[in-house]
Amino acid sequence: MKEILLLNGPNLNLLGTREPSVYGTVTLQDIERQVQSVCDPHGVTVKAYQSNHEGALVDAIHEAMNTASGIIFNPGAYTHTSVALRDAIAGVGLPMIEVHISNVHKRESFRHTSLLAPVSFGQIVGLGSLGYSLAAQALLDHIYKEEKHGENTKN
Ligand code: DQA
Repeated sequence: MKEILLLNGPNLNLLGTREPSVYGTVTLQDIERQVQSVCDPHGVTVKAYQSNHEGALVDAIHEAMNTASGIIFNPGAYTHTSVALRDAIAGVGLPMIEVHISNVHKRESFRHTSLLAPVSFGQIVGLGSLGYSLAAQALLDHIYKEEKHGENTKN
């Protein structure tokens, strides 16, 4: 059975109560259920993992290399700072869709740069929790297209 990794970085465990005017009131658990329901009809399982620690996120990405067909990733504040996460994504070579709940481009200038954007397959920004479901659809589409072309038979 195919698997995708749903990865969330620092402070995203607080979704639901964290700055609701910016991030809404949907919880991370709701988002995980939402993504699983997009993947269910395709027989794809979702492994959900959240960490506030950069190294733990790097480890989760490495682990995905052997188990997952792709990654949906909201790196939180590490988006703007982490060379280690960028290198991890580049290193495992899995398709990764970057998601941001808020429209980072409308916010402080330090949020306008993503160190992960150059290694992402695509980005979804500012669409709230819906962005995760759209990312799952896009990732499934990409995985099955690749499979059809016989390019990615690994996981
Ligand atoms: C975020 C945007 C980041 O700038 C911020 O640090 C987050 C959440 C988003 O989902 O909008 O923690 O990634």
